Amino acid sequence: MKFFIDTANLKEIEEGAKMGILDGCTTNPSLMAKEGIKGESNIKDHYKSICELVDGSVSAEVFSTSFDGIVSEGEELANIHSNIVVKVPMIEEGIKAIAHFTKNNIKTNCTLVFSATQALLAAKAGATYISPFIGRLDDISTDGLQLLDDIVTIFSNYGFESEVLGASVRHPMHLMECAQMGVDVVTCPFSVYKSLFKHPLTDIGLAKFLKDAEKMQG
Ligand code: G3P
Repeated sequence: MKFFIDTANLKEIEEGAKMGILDGCTTNPSLMAKEGIKGESNIKDHYKSICELVDGSVSAEVFSTSFDGIVSEGEELANIHSNIVVKVPMIEEGIKAIAHFTKNNIKTNCTLVFSATQALLAAKAGATYISPFIGRLDDISTDGLQLLDDIVTIFSNYGFESEVLGASVRHPMHLMECAQMGVDVVTCPFSVYKSLFKHPLTDIGLAKFLKDAEKMQG
């Protein structure tokens, strides 16, 4: 199971990479804007910096919604670094662009997927990653994990090569359920990875061991 970090914050990416658990990074316009990144050259520089910090796929999202716009923007993004994956919204023009990128060996991440049939379209177009948003479905009283389970079943029925990327992960239980159902990748905020370390019995046990270690040192 691959762990991607869902942030554009360089400090978090660096810290996550140092933990040795990261396989990639996903960003989106909201995460980039949160870091105050503005203007074409700053955007490109920021993606370059992310690629230098994390050894794996880095999803960079297009702003365009027309086929031509997505293709030219995607090609520019892909030229920034070999780890860039072009993130394309799940719209008709986006699917056409994903099919085009697939033919031209440019990796893609189909984003804003909220149904199994949307995921099927993205798989047919050859998307490298397909990102169903679990948390945003939960937010509207719909079972996001059930959608992921449906997609995993459908993809294994037909042997689609696209990797299922659980996005909009909000807490450790989302991640654990994704792992149980065999989701290929999860992308999580840094806070979710940090929370995976925590267990009160670990803290209590360590405190006791350290106290006893002091005794041993005389
Ligand atoms: O990168 C897309 C996704 O992970 C967004 O998450 O928490 O804004 O729904 P969230």
